[in-house]
Amino acid sequence: MKGTVIAVTGKGGVGKTMLSALLIGILGDSQPGKSILAIDADPDSNLAESLGVEFQKTVGDIREDMLREKPSPGVEKKKYLDAKVFEITVETDNFDLLVMGRPEGQGCYCAINHMLRDIVDNITKSYDYIVIDAEAGLEHLSRRTTENVDSLLVISDASKKGLDTAKRIKDLTRELNIKFNNLYLILNRVTPENKDVLEDEAGKLGIEVIGSIPDDPEVSDLDLRGRPITGISQESKAYKEAENIARKLIKNG
Ligand SMILES: Nc1ncnc2c1ncn2[C@@H]1O[C@H](COP(=O)(O)OP(=O)(O)O)[C@@H](O)[C@H]1O
Ligand SMILES: [Mg+2]
Repeated sequence: MKGTVIAVTGKGGVGKTMLSALLIGILGDSQPGKSILAIDADPDSNLAESLGVEFQKTVGDIREDMLREKPSPGVEKKKYLDAKVFEITVETDNFDLLVMGRPEGQGCYCAINHMLRDIVDNITKSYDYIVIDAEAGLEHLSRRTTENVDSLLVISDASKKGLDTAKRIKDLTRELNIKFNNLYLILNRVTPENKDVLEDEAGKLGIEVIGSIPDDPEVSDLDLRGRPITGISQESKAYKEAENIARKLIKNG
């Protein structure tokens, strides 16, 4: 059985983590009994903080520990790594969280990296929904060895750089041969002033737009106070639009 994989990407600062966290919260509330895995795949990211949970270690840390500690020869590496990844997966009542941490980088870690990739891919298979907060380089997605992404969500704010990155991501999916069923554009921080120009410019990218999240003072306020975005009120503009987006994704899943 395969879960529904939703990956969120876009330029830094456009709202990937905000949307990922909102979707995880909404899926948890609207799909009781379904299991959800949140993957923080942006090395620069803070999904855990936005979800209001704490984590101890990342998959990257496991790799470094393994290289440093060199478990005794009798210990089977794959089993050791399996146990470690299980250990660092944060469990909450509504979802589990796995933080990828530093990217693989160059070097001779091939065997370990392969094993870790397989382990993460395997874990993914046991959840109903997998939400990946991914960086614009799509590194994590390009390394997945199994399963399509169901919905690849590209976010842009009202900036030329945000839209240019969205376009580059679309091209990158082809170059990296990333398989997805749906590619969607989501506009964020939309205001009555920027709405028309933003929609015009977005229309030129040739990616279906499935959401338009207003600039929301409640989001800024939570951020400034260092509070998790999952604490946002269900009447807020950003939450309501995230709900609309989630509904479309569930239907497609
Ligand atoms: N719709 C919105 N309204 C107000 N502030 C927003 C909105 N979306 C994102 N932000 C703010 O923009 C900043 C970047 O968002 P974040 O989700 O961390 O981006 P990314 O993960 O893409 O780097 C944060 O301070 C966040 O609170
Ligand atoms: Mg982020």
